[in-house]
Amino acid sequence: MSEAVIEAKDLAKSYRASGRPVEALRGVTLSIARGSMTFLVGPSGSGKSTFLQLAGGLDRPTSGTIAVDGRDLGSMDDRALSAFRRTRVGFVFQAFNLIPNLDAVDNVLIPFYASGLAAGMRDRARTLLGEVGLGDRLGHRPKQLSGGEQQRVAIARALLKDPALLLADEPTGELDSKTGAAIFALLRGLQRDRGASVVVVTHDTRHIEPGDRIVRIADGAVVGDSPA
Ligand SMILES: Nc1ncnc2c1ncn2[C@@H]1O[C@H](COP(=O)(O)OP(=O)(O)O)[C@@H](O)[C@H]1O
Ligand SMILES: [Mg+2]
Repeated sequence: MSEAVIEAKDLAKSYRASGRPVEALRGVTLSIARGSMTFLVGPSGSGKSTFLQLAGGLDRPTSGTIAVDGRDLGSMDDRALSAFRRTRVGFVFQAFNLIPNLDAVDNVLIPFYASGLAAGMRDRARTLLGEVGLGDRLGHRPKQLSGGEQQRVAIARALLKDPALLLADEPTGELDSKTGAAIFALLRGLQRDRGASVVVVTHDTRHIEPGDRIVRIADGAVVGDSPA
């Protein structure tokens, strides 16, 4: 197996907005090492979220290729791609797939309902919600939670999944600095202790540590790439 968890080659994505094409990514070639912590930084609208969506198999490239763990996502059919998302990837995206009529604990457990809940999972979900600071919000539904609290439910869900690849899109954007630091400690733990590869889009560069990689994106292209 390749040492790269993500291998993008000449990756391009264009959208259509009111009839006009928008080139969100214009030929990104990038290899991200397995087990690494990578920060994706760049101005708003530069294509960071688009890159994460392609890497997570939530959308397909317009041209070029993206492979995860050596498997070209573009050549998978919808069914294989959905299995890939369910089993391999943890997503911490804004407003990502929280179910309105489920409480925080059940929202954390969503990815596991299809295959059946193993013993102890509900307790583990409660513990993880406590670790992201939501121990007193377990029975709240998404609309009874703030944006930052919803984000933390998504983080607890991604942690319970214990994914090989965690993709986080501005995970601390709406959090105070203390909670933000706690979230980064959890992401860091997933990378260091569980061997996960973590790719995080953030403006919060205080959490970058030696050994991390910083990839700068502007106008749909990689414009900088450096170790911290
Ligand atoms: N679904 C979409 N339809 C049309 N344009 C989009 C869509 N998603 C993103 N874009 C455009 O693509 C560009 C890159 O967006 P995005 O990847 O969200 O940037 P970032 O996450 O860096 O802020 C922006 O100009 C944005 O307006
Ligand atoms: Mg974005």
